[in-house]
Amino acid sequence: MFQPVKIAPSILSADLMALKADVDLITEAGADYIHVDVMDGHFVPNLTMGIPVVKQLAPYARIPLDVHLMIANPEKQVPWFIEAGADSITVHTEAVSVPQLVKTLEEIRASGVKCAVSIKPGTDIEALAPVVEMVDMILVMSVEPGFSGQSFIAGSDAKVAAVVQMCRAMGCAPLIQVDGGIGLRTAPLVAQAGADVLVCGNAVFKADDPAAAIRDIRRVADEARLEALSAEGAQE
Ligand code: DX5
Ligand code: ZN
Repeated sequence: MFQPVKIAPSILSADLMALKADVDLITEAGADYIHVDVMDGHFVPNLTMGIPVVKQLAPYARIPLDVHLMIANPEKQVPWFIEAGADSITVHTEAVSVPQLVKTLEEIRASGVKCAVSIKPGTDIEALAPVVEMVDMILVMSVEPGFSGQSFIAGSDAKVAAVVQMCRAMGCAPLIQVDGGIGLRTAPLVAQAGADVLVCGNAVFKADDPAAAIRDIRRVADEARLEALSAEGAQE
């Protein structure tokens, strides 16, 4: 059945001096999540926002807060992000050992928060195998994590397709999210490959009309999803 793509604008690209207005704007424009990029200056070179921001956003937000942890030792901070009011929390495979990853995702899930796992562009999808069946969402990074406004890495759509295949083979269907360099040109590529959730930073917040950007990205992505669905149907 056709499901429209979900859009998750990243507030890393928002006007931080007018965050409330930007959150209102994307909410009223029909965004599905508020994507919060948490960076610690260790796991990635950049240092961004953290628990106090999530804590203040949570009671105000009318759409779920999707917290993307690009931090070392995420297991130490996860309880605080849960407490702060995150609706979903994404942990990177590269940040923890496999047993720690499993434990951390279990802890997120047990608290009633959605759990997700992410891989960087250079990480093989095999790294997802131990947790594919337990996560609500898989995030495929289409840029090297650390900064907004980078160019989509060619071939990331093929990686998305490979992750979709892997999930199907394992009999599970977590949401597939893509993050990095997503805009009008790249959204159809990843949507066609099976992405369900598109993170957009600059393509939304640096647009002249962010609400129109959300609508346009959703439209081109949905057209690509529909095309992929009918191609699949034709094959069956
Ligand atoms: C990159 C972040 C992304 C990024 C997206 O490390 O995880 O969420 O800010 O920004 P754009 O869409 O501008 O690439
Ligand atoms: Zn992100």
